[in-house]
Amino acid sequence: MLPADAQFDEQMMRRAIRLAMNGRGRVEPNPMVAAVIVKDGRVIGEGFHAQFGGPHAEPTALSSLTESAEGATAYVTLEPCCHTNKKTPPCVPALIEARLARVVVGCVDPNPDVNGKGLEMLRAAGIAVDVNVLEDPAKQLIAPFIAHTVYDRPYVTLKWAETADGKVAGRDGKPLQITSEKASRLVHQLRARCDAIMIGIGTAMIDDPLLTAREAPEPRPLMRVVLDSQLRLPMESKLVRTARQHRVLVEFDRRLAEAERDKLNALQQAGVQPFMVERRFDGLNLEQVLTPLAHFGATHVLVEAGPTVASSFFHEQTLADRVWLFRSPNAVNEPTAPAGVGVPANYVKTGETEIDGDHLTEYLNPSSPVFFAAEPSADFVLATG
Ligand SMILES: NC(=O)c1ccc[n+]([C@@H]2O[C@H](COP(=O)([O-])OP(=O)(O)OC[C@H]3O[C@@H](n4cnc5c(N)ncnc54)[C@H](OP(=O)(O)O)[C@@H]3O)[C@@H](O)[C@H]2O)c1
Ligand SMILES: [Zn+2]
Repeated sequence: MLPADAQFDEQMMRRAIRLAMNGRGRVEPNPMVAAVIVKDGRVIGEGFHAQFGGPHAEPTALSSLTESAEGATAYVTLEPCCHTNKKTPPCVPALIEARLARVVVGCVDPNPDVNGKGLEMLRAAGIAVDVNVLEDPAKQLIAPFIAHTVYDRPYVTLKWAETADGKVAGRDGKPLQITSEKASRLVHQLRARCDAIMIGIGTAMIDDPLLTAREAPEPRPLMRVVLDSQLRLPMESKLVRTARQHRVLVEFDRRLAEAERDKLNALQQAGVQPFMVERRFDGLNLEQVLTPLAHFGATHVLVEAGPTVASSFFHEQTLADRVWLFRSPNAVNEPTAPAGVGVPANYVKTGETEIDGDHLTEYLNPSSPVFFAAEPSADFVLATG
């Protein structure tokens, strides 16, 4: 048992972590952050980072105060910032000016411009600082930010839907609407919060998807990415035809750059951005595939994975961070329908819910470098209310 004070600290940090999740899909490539200000055991102000370029969590919390913060404690999910080479003024001076007695921090900011300097400045101003309260959940909250900042790649979510008998498509692989309307809406909301959506050329050829976020109130600019070693993506596909409105990247085998010059030119003329990567025995090098996405600012890629792409990601062991698996109660009963791949046995289940009869399970990959705690993600928490 933790002492009562430590328990209270964790309770307030939990509250801050949940509050921070409200920024999901709007603050990226920044991390989700929230602050809760407490005096004499009462919450007197709180706020979260709500929009990229908008105020940070700490000034938002300070501006919501119902009384003076003098002598109060601020619980902040991430180390407050002290650097000035960014859009908004640094938060540490604002916390000092508010005359707080104590600042409790979830985790240190991995951004090299901060990384402990914010804590030092607070301490130098005479504020008591406690760090790493619920450190692992606080890091899990910002796993996509850590993936981008420290590992130079976006966070990777694999998502697919299966029938009750484990199939991912209909007869001979023909497209099949597997889940309910409500589950599809959830997927569109998830797309709207991610920065990039990736598919394999198998899915592109069969389903000819558009991969935009429909029905989302404020969709973000999306990157649509196709893994297509041989540059087979048809010029008449929906993706190519809409490449001027929504970015399309096609990643292909670098050895084909000469031989496929005409196709490359045609794709570029249509507004598609081709990227050369290495091809290995089982497909494009997935680590290399992710790099251009990170360089375009993507912190989170949603892979709408066919079985072939899903198995490659699982084969890599450390590149897939999360799985969202929808399972419908209906069977397709078609021997020629392709089967889904199983989620690796070591993956940890972090959430389960029913959506109009469909079952959604969230898993995290414990071998990912950005796995810190078996906590449901912000996407999952927001989806399930
Ligand atoms: N139920 C669902 O949620 C869902 C989701 C997606 C797809 N699907 C269904 O799944 C079927 C398509 O799946 P699929 O397995 O045939 O194809 P896929 O996984 O969509 O694409 C596989 C292809 O992508 C290319 N690729 C390039 N790099 C790769 C890499 N590192 N790893 C794996 N593939 C790589 C390969 O073609 P190249 O060698 O030419 O590059 C490979 O054959 C369709 O029937 C579709 O409807 C269902
Ligand atoms: Zn800040």
